[in-house]
Amino acid sequence: MGKFIVEGGNSLEGEITVSGAKNAALPIITASLLADSPSTLLDIPALRDVINLCKILRDMGAKINRDGSTVEVDPRSLHKSEADSELARQLRASYYILGVMLSKNGKAKTSLPGGCNIGNRPIDLHLKGFKALGAEIELNHGIIEVKADKLQGDKIYLDYPSVGATINIMLAATKAEGKTVIENAAREPEIVDLANYLTVMGAKIKGVGTDVIKIEGVDKLQGAEHRIIPDRIEAGTYMIAAALSKGDVFVNNVLTEHVKPLIAKLHEMNVNIEEEIEGVRVSKTGELEAVDVKTLPYPGFPTDMQSQMMVLLTQANDSSLVIETVFENRFMHVDELKRMGADIKIDGHSALVKPGKLTGAEVAAADLRAGAALILAGLVAEGETEIRDIFHVERGYENIANKLSGIGADIKKID
Ligand code: EPZ
Repeated sequence: MGKFIVEGGNSLEGEITVSGAKNAALPIITASLLADSPSTLLDIPALRDVINLCKILRDMGAKINRDGSTVEVDPRSLHKSEADSELARQLRASYYILGVMLSKNGKAKTSLPGGCNIGNRPIDLHLKGFKALGAEIELNHGIIEVKADKLQGDKIYLDYPSVGATINIMLAATKAEGKTVIENAAREPEIVDLANYLTVMGAKIKGVGTDVIKIEGVDKLQGAEHRIIPDRIEAGTYMIAAALSKGDVFVNNVLTEHVKPLIAKLHEMNVNIEEEIEGVRVSKTGELEAVDVKTLPYPGFPTDMQSQMMVLLTQANDSSLVIETVFENRFMHVDELKRMGADIKIDGHSALVKPGKLTGAEVAAADLRAGAALILAGLVAEGETEIRDIFHVERGYENIANKLSGIGADIKKID
């Protein structure tokens, strides 16, 4: 199992470039199966989740050619509506196969996504949407099967603005009969990116990015070329790395309107941020002001940035309160940070973060963003930090050790 070795204390200088967004790439690659002709997808990040998804689609018969960050998908040889259960179990986002194949062929099968360590991650809202569109759902031995002779549009209210449910229902509705309205829909930029791609393919979608999305079903969708948006969470992670190291870093390939919540918080903390056309410059960070952070669905502060922000808050001039409202168990990084000397007290969904020096230690990544937080902690800790189980981190960060070394971090990957 691989690990990262990080020597703390370096000031980060120079330019670091963000890759395409994982959470846009996964639904968009899957959505390309809806078309009757090939698609060319650009700026696809070379991540384990993307590679596993391509394996699943190939197993279903699609022709997929991945060359660097370009992925070509030809769905014309598709011959299965079922995702290989072994592969699907390794990738939560494989459940987008349900919405796509239900819309395309009127049936779909995949293994029920396991919960993961940040919470039990139910898919009841996805299924509520499929049922509203007229699908029957069967759940046997961990395999979920949905089918419908003809999907009929309907109005669906989401009890929670779930990203996955909004995406899956939108995918299912693209070729359903008539109009579908999703109320209390999620508004994340990755959903807007998916809708932009579907629209070029010929889908009729209105209101994405607001909490009411209207979809008019169509008969046919054609393949298209689409460039994935940059990964706002990868960008935010590097912005925090720059602030922690009190360096001067240009984070390249950032849509600043997608990182507004983080920029606002960093301003409040007295981090010097300059928004430019191509990206964001983080520099001349002085004494860090303590701030409170509460995670919320977009456009609130993203839950995927909570663990990284907590590391920065350990270096502030006073105590901070972090409240996690999206997932029920997303403080796994806290125990590991405590091994590095952090003073953090958890009470339910809240964590009180007190300032203090961090020292290097042997720690383990519990999940994708917790692992990213440990790398950030290692950058600012005194001495050497060894981070195990880095496969979690490599699911969501392309070449993170090389990218950080490129701006002066002392980080090595040991296979
Ligand atoms: C997506 O997960 C992202 N994953 C997550 O990023 C991200 O943290 C999350 O959205 C929130 O922004 C991908 O896009 C692949 P949700 P998703 O459905 O769709 C509850 C990362 O680090 N819920 O918005 O699973 C759920 O339990 C990952 O890149 C239901 O109750 O998130 C959770 O508490 C981690 N029923 C809340 O909603 C449902 O049917 C938010 O989940 C669906 C969700």
